[in-house]
Amino acid sequence: MYTQSMDTDPETRNPVAKVSAVGRPEEQRFQATVDAEGKIEPRDWMPEAYRKTLLRQISQHAHSEIIGMFPEGNWISRAPSLKRKAILIAKVQDEAGHGLYLYSAAETLGQSRDEMMAALHSGRAKYSSIFNYPTLTWADVGMIGWLVDGAAIMNQIPLCRCSYGPYARAMIRVCKEESFHQRQGFDIMLSLSKGTADQKAMAQESLDRWWWPVLAMFGPPDADSVHSGQSAQWKIKRVSNDELRQKFIDATVPQAELLGLRIPDEKLKWNTQTGHYDFGPIDWDDFWRVVNGEGPCNKERLAARVKAYEEGQWVRDAAMAYAVKRKARQHKEAA
Ligand SMILES: [Fe+2]
Ligand SMILES: [Fe+2]
Repeated sequence: MYTQSMDTDPETRNPVAKVSAVGRPEEQRFQATVDAEGKIEPRDWMPEAYRKTLLRQISQHAHSEIIGMFPEGNWISRAPSLKRKAILIAKVQDEAGHGLYLYSAAETLGQSRDEMMAALHSGRAKYSSIFNYPTLTWADVGMIGWLVDGAAIMNQIPLCRCSYGPYARAMIRVCKEESFHQRQGFDIMLSLSKGTADQKAMAQESLDRWWWPVLAMFGPPDADSVHSGQSAQWKIKRVSNDELRQKFIDATVPQAELLGLRIPDEKLKWNTQTGHYDFGPIDWDDFWRVVNGEGPCNKERLAARVKAYEEGQWVRDAAMAYAVKRKARQHKEAA
């Protein structure tokens, strides 16, 4: 997962700066390629603001994938059966893979992985705020698959047609794997909802905690979303935050009904006129609090990430030493 359409970079907030190159021949060629549904590749000319927007979005997405491993990884040793454990290990491993494809895609825009890691570890770079909530019960693992990965799929399917080639291609594979993640989550929820009264209560309690943060994952309302207009023109973002959120709610309510779970929203109601569900107000203050570092697990997640990075230094050193040796051997053989 998990791009989140939030705007935390003051550098690209100025709409005038975003279109500085309009009218130049290379800018016209670039926009004509985008308009014709062509792909922009790493060696092509691109506006600086396009490169920066993509770099921020893709790296934020990559960070979300690897931070997203923590809440679920927390349950690998406590999965209720060997089968669930094997599935969860595979799922968490997929998320590491998503991080790798996305860091590679981001590197093609001119920033090294070390720089991206430094930005994450210092707290300068953001990741999806959904991972700053704790996984208190086994039902939360089901909820992450069903709702968080489900929301990610909604968000990411349009990204498979993103104008930037490396990102679009990475998203195709990611989406296939996310669809497996969503199914495994729903399958956990199905087992719990068919289980004992305690298991069903555990599933309901988990839904009560996750529902609203998941709706916030789609990012601020369109009216407050600074980047959307420009990102749409560049065909980075094709569907707005509010449209994606509505699509997600419309798809998820019948699934909750099938599970026999109650969505914690008194205002949730089918609207025959619009053909969509109406829903209650989202607590954006809570969302921004979590984005800005005050969520229940922000500090814990970052500390775990930094520790893992530091403890893995010997692996990176060994890989580099091997690469140097191999190169020297090849030179010797060639001489
Ligand atoms: Fe993922
Ligand atoms: Fe996933």
